[in-house]
Amino acid sequence: GGAQRGPERRPVLKIILLGDSGVGKTSLMRQFVSGKFESRYKATIGADFFTHEEIIDGRPVNLQIWDTAGQERFQSLGSAFYRGADACMIVFDITSNESFSHITTWLQEFTLQAGQKDMVLIGNKADVQERRQVYNRGIQQWCAEQGGDMQYFETSAKQNTHVGAAFRAVATAAYRAK
Ligand code: GTP
Ligand code: MG
Repeated sequence: GGAQRGPERRPVLKIILLGDSGVGKTSLMRQFVSGKFESRYKATIGADFFTHEEIIDGRPVNLQIWDTAGQERFQSLGSAFYRGADACMIVFDITSNESFSHITTWLQEFTLQAGQKDMVLIGNKADVQERRQVYNRGIQQWCAEQGGDMQYFETSAKQNTHVGAAFRAVATAAYRAK
């Protein structure tokens, strides 16, 4: 056989979760990484990341998923949080018009700090349709205004609906761009 070249280094993709406080960023990450959901709200303090292995385009990839406090939304999160980011997930809560009204600010902050990278839009809490405030028409319009092909996923971290699909979509886009 041919000479062994040493193990190929596994790619690491840094994916950032952004969005207002309470939209479910930590819940989405927890559901994706450990299959758990917690009804009690505990605000995230500072920033943290978790690593999760996924197979993307047939290859193992380490996703480094960064979560932070939405409460700091109009302060700077600090460049360390954004440094080297490959993609982001902008999350709003479908039962909160206010959280939807801030997604442009989150997108601008991310683009400013990390440059033009892949992103997906997440409307979370899809299990609470009876309190829905944000409708498809407005969501599609916002996506169209961003140009290109902004992907949108409606998720429930509680019921584990489309959570894996959303993370895999952003990871796949980031992996192919890298
Ligand atoms: P910060 O850390 O303050 O930025 O908030 P966050 O975006 O991390 O929100 P978190 O994941 O802590 O969720 C806030 C609250 O919403 C918690 O009480 C969760 O249980 C609840 N929650 C999160 N996702 C869902 C969901 O899909 N459905 C429902 N019904 N509740 C959810
Ligand atoms: Mg949190």
